[in-house]
Amino acid sequence: SSNELVDMFSRTISYLRLSLTDRCNLRCVYCMPVDNDKGLEVLQHEDLLSYEELLRIVKLVVGMGMNKIRLTGGEPLVRRGVMNFIESLSQINGLDEIRLTTNGVLLHEKAEGLYRAGIRKLNISLDSMRPERFMKITGVDLFHRVWQGIETAERLGFDVKLNVVAMKGVNDDEFVDFARLAVEKPYQVRFIEFMPVGDRSTWNEASYISSTELKKRIGDIGVLEPLPGSKMDGPARVYSLTSVDGLQGRVGFISPISHHFCDTCNRLRLTSAGRLRACLLNDKEADLKSLLRKGATDDEIKGLIRQTILDKPKGHTLAEDQARCSGQMSRIGG
Ligand code: GTP
Ligand code: 5AD
Ligand code: SF4
Repeated sequence: SSNELVDMFSRTISYLRLSLTDRCNLRCVYCMPVDNDKGLEVLQHEDLLSYEELLRIVKLVVGMGMNKIRLTGGEPLVRRGVMNFIESLSQINGLDEIRLTTNGVLLHEKAEGLYRAGIRKLNISLDSMRPERFMKITGVDLFHRVWQGIETAERLGFDVKLNVVAMKGVNDDEFVDFARLAVEKPYQVRFIEFMPVGDRSTWNEASYISSTELKKRIGDIGVLEPLPGSKMDGPARVYSLTSVDGLQGRVGFISPISHHFCDTCNRLRLTSAGRLRACLLNDKEADLKSLLRKGATDDEIKGLIRQTILDKPKGHTLAEDQARCSGQMSRIGG
């Protein structure tokens, strides 16, 4: 029954974010820096949960009452066999929605297959629309490829959300351009506050810019009018730009630092290393993979899931504590 999924703060945990791999075909500065002193450690194939193991877990959580799943990474589309996996997921009764967060590099070629497999909503990361800057941020000269992927997704009828991590001194001179994009295209362009995840090489306070500041800047081109929030639509606050003619899309703000949404959080995460993580910004994890590979019964697995939910922290206090979360974004899945 669904009260298995209610935590200590009366939040119903109905949504699983699944990181399929920590590998990626980009090297975004804030996520997978190439030249930190240890180099880039990635998991080996046997460290990942197999698709069989993942399907078992997803069926169990759906049986417990979860109805939505998001595939993340690293880059989920680089994992071999991902299309077949998504097709298997789409056969699970009670799983209402399968969504995907991607960097868009492989989207042009994979979009049709994704649509066929039942995915209708895509969140695509895009931090710059200037090819040279895109390369500086991601390490690879693939802006045009990603753009083509986005347009293909639009043409096929996907609901497209673009994720823009707002970084002062990096892409802040493009916020207005991104807002204009939301005017011209039927996309929800979401600005995300830069969260303190990782080490000095991936995050520094100076790059942080709040949504309040962002809104001021975007206010130059139109009036932001909040849309009635649908609670299940996740952390983004969504606005239309009312004074602008011919508005196609929407502008969203995800403000985990300045206005955190922890009291309505409905999420559980499964990292690419097979660990359950109750909170993105809290490093506590439970080793589901080891339990599975010891030959655990369904009840034992459900027990660990339930326990993880009961241990879910009330929220994060990173802003007050001026702390950072040391987890690795590419393994956690954002
Ligand atoms: P839906 O709500 O399913 O549409 O997706 P989403 O917007 O939550 O997913 P997406 O993967 O596109 O993430 C967008 C941004 O929100 C990323 O920067 C995530 O790290 C961040 N994010 C997503 N969920 C949470 C959360 O529960 N807590 C915090 N602090 N950040 C989150
Ligand atoms: N702060 C905010 N968003 C982040 N993402 C990755 N790292 C961070 C961070 N430190 C975003 C990615 C992707 C999404 C899953 O998370 O850009 O769009
Ligand atoms: Fe949920 Fe943790 Fe994100 Fe808060 S910081 S919304 S508790 S995942």
